[in-house]
Amino acid sequence: MTQRWTPSSWRDKPIQQVPAYPDQQALTAVETQIAGFPPLVFAGEARKLKRALARVATGDAFLIQGGDCAESFGEHSADNIRDFFRLFLQMAVVLTFAGSSPVVKVGRIAGQFAKPRSSNVEKQGGIELPSYRGDIINGIDFTEASRIPDPARQLDAYRQSAATLNLLRAFATGGYANLENAHRWMLGFVKDSPLSHRYEELAGRITETLDFMRAIGLDPEAHPELRATDFYTSHEALLLGYEQALTRVDSTTGDWYATSGHMVWIGDRTRQIDHAHVEYCRGIRNPIGLKCGPSTTTDGLLKLIDVLNPDNEAGRLTLIARFGADKAQQHLPALVKAVQREGRSVVWSCDPMHGNTLSSPSGYKTRPFDQILSELRTFFEMHRAEGSHAGGIHLEMTGKNVTECTGGARAISDEDLHDRYHTYCDPRLNAEQALEAAFLIAEFLKKEKALRGRVPATAAE
Ligand code: PEP
Ligand code: CO
Repeated sequence: MTQRWTPSSWRDKPIQQVPAYPDQQALTAVETQIAGFPPLVFAGEARKLKRALARVATGDAFLIQGGDCAESFGEHSADNIRDFFRLFLQMAVVLTFAGSSPVVKVGRIAGQFAKPRSSNVEKQGGIELPSYRGDIINGIDFTEASRIPDPARQLDAYRQSAATLNLLRAFATGGYANLENAHRWMLGFVKDSPLSHRYEELAGRITETLDFMRAIGLDPEAHPELRATDFYTSHEALLLGYEQALTRVDSTTGDWYATSGHMVWIGDRTRQIDHAHVEYCRGIRNPIGLKCGPSTTTDGLLKLIDVLNPDNEAGRLTLIARFGADKAQQHLPALVKAVQREGRSVVWSCDPMHGNTLSSPSGYKTRPFDQILSELRTFFEMHRAEGSHAGGIHLEMTGKNVTECTGGARAISDEDLHDRYHTYCDPRLNAEQALEAAFLIAEFLKKEKALRGRVPATAAE
């Protein structure tokens, strides 16, 4: 692993999950074209996110990372982006005010198009076709033509990412995210749920606080933190030709950065230490994520940390635990202990989605909300027991009122799933379920805070 890294050195390594492009020349032509396009994000922004994540690593902030499993070309609209952003702001309010913790916001958005698949083929009614691999690669329609990987889709993905980022930047800094608007972020369909009362109460507290500031002569408008927010983008760095084309040298530092998103992660199926995805990610200086699943061993994880974060830089590496509610307790403690023992600085985040996917009796891929909460609970309790910071969550969620995961305040049942099942890949939490999860997490954060607060007091006794 000490060989020289270049943006293309991954090409000399074994690789998993590669689409079978029929026309390699067309692929190269598209990659060359994208290599000439402007970066989507800037190195300085990626560094700012790394600094924010460094605060998470030291226990002083909390990370919310979330969004679609797979973004799609068909569902690209201003309304979808706005509803998603609103949900994020609401969850951040819950965690900041109820959990008293600063929140780092990272969307699975503006680039989350490529999907790893457990099988190369999909069967429907006796017909077998190549699997759908995300809109950046092929089409979801179950036809032979649609499933052929088409390089031109990368151009569409780039343009959609640019348009999405443009709107996100406007929402984040153009006044929409002003805390004065906290009452208005409530999504229509959540308004009549019990959660809305809890949220309204928090929004009321924010208004009171801002009024109080004014009363004592402080002008909230003078504080940019209250008027705007930092919002970052992320996706799985799976389609490495596309990633390479957007890998650029930062003129300030001379370092290489992925400019397709602020943060990228390595998936559970592509984290082989001597393979292409790890090779690519080790050389870029962005904050990166690493999915850790049931096949992650302690030794294997420490070796990956050596390769991906050799300087032990805080904020560089986020370990995203995705074991499943029934397996987390069995696997996670040993990994957390080993990381602590070796003094490695990481952000520990919990993805309670990918280990809890099942096929419902009616044939839908779904996730029971109870199991999602159960894995979150295990994650927080385990970290508390080890004296480690439960740093964040990684959710598949949407601002839309979909019926994809069963359970939650409205007790979505198996029979309800067909109603509004819109995902292109894995089932997402709808806005109400995501908000409910945020309230639960706020309780855990409060407990962690109380415990940390008590440490010096006990020591002084
Ligand atoms: C994902 O995050 O959508 C994903 C495929 O996760 P994992 O790599 O953990 O299975
Ligand atoms: Co997924």
